[in-house]
Formats: sequence, structure tokens, C-alpha cells
Amino acid sequence: MLNFAVRVAQDAGRLLRDRLGTRIDISLKGAINLVTDVDLASERLIREAIASHYPKHQVLAEEGGLAESSSEYRWIVDPLDGTSNYAHSYPVFAVSIGLECRGELILGVVYDPIREELFTAERGGGAALNNRPIRVSSTAELGSSMLSTGFPYDIKTSKLTNLNHWANFAMKAQALRRDGAASLDLCYIACGRFDGFWELNLGPWDTAAGALIAREAGARVTDFAGGAFSVYKPEIIASNGLIHDAMIDVIRAGVA
Ligand code: IPD
Ligand code: CA
Ligand code: CA
Repeated sequence: MLNFAVRVAQDAGRLLRDRLGTRIDISLKGAINLVTDVDLASERLIREAIASHYPKHQVLAEEGGLAESSSEYRWIVDPLDGTSNYAHSYPVFAVSIGLECRGELILGVVYDPIREELFTAERGGGAALNNRPIRVSSTAELGSSMLSTGFPYDIKTSKLTNLNHWANFAMKAQALRRDGAASLDLCYIACGRFDGFWELNLGPWDTAAGALIAREAGARVTDFAGGAFSVYKPEIIASNGLIHDAMIDVIRAGVA
């Protein structure tokens, strides 16, 4: 199933790369939440591949939602993570494919077709970048850390803007980034480029593959209080483990 997921992620990734910078149809799902015909074409490709290889499996994908069945397997798919980037030809985006068995993540694939970086993990089998094992960073202090995050699409209407945490982390960390693709943020934790990542209001398709890849590379992945992470919960903190408690303290300080 990992080989299958890799093949499909690469096929979908090639589609994204080929259409980048061409005429794309962009529409709004919310005030600033975009969807393009390329998101939809990528999702169609992935759904069709799963339907022909594993017709009984469930599929939860961002644009079409859940196709439920009695199968214990559920594919969790973001056909284009980083749509705002993509719509602006900012070359940071990925295809994200995770697989759950009886509610537990068992494999994850994130493919960045621009850098041709393929992140993979199987539960208990470690994580890899282009087939080479990867590990989280060894940065032990928040003050020496590069962190990443993202902002919710309802930032203009919700009280939960994440701006409080952004401001607090900016005063404590070495550097902050907002790169616009949560699946890659998590993979960058896995390979040590980022030391920590936090975000609120993510969907299961944003985190399923990346959370497993990060965990398999040695990351600690929790909710904002340090409790168990679930892809069905909106909050996530992922880190190299060493700065995790310090990150929880900063988040706690920002909660009114
Ligand atoms: C978004 C990206 C972004 C995150 C957003 C996500 P999309 O996914 O992962 O980094 O901040 O919350 O929704 O909409 O581009 O698939
Ligand atoms: Ca996404
Ligand atoms: Ca998406």
C-alpha cells in the first residue's frame, strides 16, 4: 500500500507541477479560502486510483469529503496542500496521502513536486526523505529554534486568529516562518529543518500523513495542552521533543 500511495502521490504531484503557472480556474470556498480546478483534478486522479485498487476502502479527501464504507481502512487525502501558494505561483505545495487502519495512522506520503522531495513513513518503520532515513533536529532551546505555523481561513471573523501565539513565539524563538503548506511544515519537522510547528483549525487531510512522518522521525506531536493528538482535533503542536514543553508554555500564556 505504501508503494501504491507513493505512485499516486507522484502522479498527482506531476499534474500539479505541469499546471503551475498555466491558466487555472480559481473560486472561493470562503472569504479567503481558495479552490482551483487543479485541486479538483488532483483529487479526482487520487480517488479514481484508490477506487480501482482498493474499491472497498473509505476515502476522506478535502474537496469531496468522506466516502464511507464498512472497511477498516480510510485514506485521508489533501490533493493540493498549499492552494493559496499555488494560485499565486509560489512554489511551495504538496500532495498529502495518509492511511488509517481502525482509526490508527499506518502510512503517510507527502510529495513536493517542485523540489522532488518524497517524504514517507510506515507506523513503526521510521520516516524517510527520498528513501533515506530522516530524524528531527537536536535544537534544545526555544531561543535557537526555527518554528513554523499557519493562520486560519476565518482569521477575519474568528477570535482564534493565532496572532497572539505568533507574537509570543516571535519574542521567544530565533525565527518564525509561515510557508503555507501544513503537510510540508510537518515533514520539515521530521527532517530537522524546523524545530517546532503549531497551528489551529487544521483538517485531517492537512495533518494525517505529516503527523505520522514527523512522529516516525522522532517528533512529539500533541494538542495545545500536551494531550494526545488526533487528526480529527483542530490543534497541533509538533516538535523535536526537546522544545515541546517550552512551546506548550508559550501557547498556554497566549490563551486568555
Ligand atoms: C492550508 C495549508 C496552510 C494552512 C491552512 C490549510 P490548503 O491547506 O496547509 O498552511 O495554514 O490552514 O488549510 O487549503 O492549501 O489545502
Ligand atoms: Ca491543506
Ligand atoms: Ca488542499
